[in-house]
Amino acid sequence: MGDAAALLLRAAAPDRAHLVQGLFWLLVAAGLEALGPLIAKTFIDTFLLPRRADLPEIAVLLLGSLLAGMVASWLRYRQLTRLAGLAMRSVQRIRENVYGHVLRLPMSFFDRAITGQLVSRVTNDTEAVKMLYVQVLFVMLDSVIVLAGAMLAMMWLDWRLMLIVATLVPAMTVIVALYQRLSAPAVTRTRELRSELNAQVAESIGGMGVLQASNATERFSGRFAAINEAHYRSRQRELRANAWLLRPVLDLLNVLLLATVIFVFSLRSEGGVGMTALEVGVLYAFISYIARVVEPLIQITMQFAQLQQAMVGAARVHALLKEAETPVAPPRGRVTEGAIAIEHLDFGYLPGRQVLHGLDLRIAAGSFHGIVGHTGSGKSTLLSLLLRFYPAPAGSIRIDGTPVDAIGEDHFREAVGLVPQEPFLLAASARENIAMGRAMTDEQVHEAARAAHAHDFIMGLEHGYDTPLGEGGARLSVGQKQLIAIARALAGKPRILFLDEATSHIDSETEQVVQRALSGLRGQVTIVAIAHRLSTIREADRIVVLNHGRIAERGTHGELMAIEGGLYQRLYLLQQLEEEEEEAPEEAPE
Ligand SMILES: Nc1ncnc2c1ncn2[C@@H]1O[C@H](COP(=O)(O)OP(=O)(O)OP(=O)(O)O)[C@@H](O)[C@H]1O
Ligand SMILES: [Mg+2]
Repeated sequence: MGDAAALLLRAAAPDRAHLVQGLFWLLVAAGLEALGPLIAKTFIDTFLLPRRADLPEIAVLLLGSLLAGMVASWLRYRQLTRLAGLAMRSVQRIRENVYGHVLRLPMSFFDRAITGQLVSRVTNDTEAVKMLYVQVLFVMLDSVIVLAGAMLAMMWLDWRLMLIVATLVPAMTVIVALYQRLSAPAVTRTRELRSELNAQVAESIGGMGVLQASNATERFSGRFAAINEAHYRSRQRELRANAWLLRPVLDLLNVLLLATVIFVFSLRSEGGVGMTALEVGVLYAFISYIARVVEPLIQITMQFAQLQQAMVGAARVHALLKEAETPVAPPRGRVTEGAIAIEHLDFGYLPGRQVLHGLDLRIAAGSFHGIVGHTGSGKSTLLSLLLRFYPAPAGSIRIDGTPVDAIGEDHFREAVGLVPQEPFLLAASARENIAMGRAMTDEQVHEAARAAHAHDFIMGLEHGYDTPLGEGGARLSVGQKQLIAIARALAGKPRILFLDEATSHIDSETEQVVQRALSGLRGQVTIVAIAHRLSTIREADRIVVLNHGRIAERGTHGELMAIEGGLYQRLYLLQQLEEEEEEAPEEAPE
């Protein structure tokens, strides 16, 4: 609750002046409105009951009352639109903050995060916070002000009667407390279930092929229906609490209160000559004020339902904002040559489960290094550390003599390029996928595409470079996606280029072209390429063989092949055997 409030206050801070002005004018409006019944009382007491018909005076009174009402309405309208605008801007700010924050979270966060739930936080939950601002706070604020005005006026008329009316406030507090106890768990649960629904939809769409192929659609529908049913029940519980506690109970209180006030009046006039003229005016004014007290009270309690939702939403947003961002050290060094030095690198994703063990490796600027090793040996992990996706132990990785974590973020990302193991494409055109928002001329984009051997197939697409590629590049083959990913990396003209299985899905012919492109970069760009397909890195200056997170062998292709019974030799011979089998399947003996 406190967290949520802090979040809101911070988001509204830039508009503080507006907020204060808005509150001030709302107060003035409430004051003018509270005048209404007082004017009516004066009319009853001085003109109606004494049967005095002083037309000019009555006209002044009526005009005054009309004017006060009009000014109050106008003020309220102006202030509410002003405050609603302020609320919307605050929520816009929160949403931008949340998204920006998510973009800066460390990769380790995304190992745990579930996409659909995260989406739900950035969109639905911030929307709930908007309700807190627009509806709840301002309806509540306005109601509180009107309520206070009416109470003050009643106190001035007759403080003892006012005390009777004031008993409504503790009664309402009890109701709201009860309501919160009943509905808070249901509201939290509803939000969780909603984000689970989102998560399942997102996951199913992401894996639609697998889902349909493994005939799991029925099971997934079933699971979805179960969560949906739980969501419905939870909503029902929420609504039952609303239906019982909010409006009906307060309406009842209203009736009780009116009865009490009228009863007290009748007691007072008992034994006397009946009601004095003065008391009729007071009674009228009181009854009008009671309506003005009850209505805002009902409004306030009704808003508690929304408030509950919004608070839960805000708490969820706040929890996300509390996730620590990747720390940014003040930039000290720059990538100049692109030499990498790895010293005694130990690393594990989870405590007690070490993945890399004491790696030592020097990669000279402009050299071409290949990394091979069996599945799970830690190749991608090593790249992730070189890319700063996870923090490496201090000082264990240096680029041009500077510890990697000390290089400024923008400069680092410009100087270091990556072709990832799973090519990631935006739902945008081929051109945008290569340029990735960097300012690039068509010529530069085409040049990169040519180097990656992607130009020809892109030109063959429906609209060439402007062809939309579909979400995740759904309209391309995996090999084509890899070519685009390579073009994207080359387009940035990096000093250091990392490739993780960049050629695993490309045919041998195209692979050779890409390989030539990489060889062409030799001497200018430091290249570290992971490859299962050993032909890709055959020409490398040095090949490093990883085995269970340790460097088992290192050397050129020739040197490694010379190690009898070595890991690399075994891998290479096995692959050659496979390739020969693939090339000559028809020649099987008849
Ligand atoms: N995000 C992660 N969280 C926890 N453990 C991980 C994570 N990523 C990888 N691992 C573990 O680290 C080890 C090395 O994984 P890594 O991805 O580096 O292997 P790899 O050599 O790239 O394999 P492949 O050739 O299949 O791509 C594996 O045992 C894996 O289970
Ligand atoms: Mg890998």
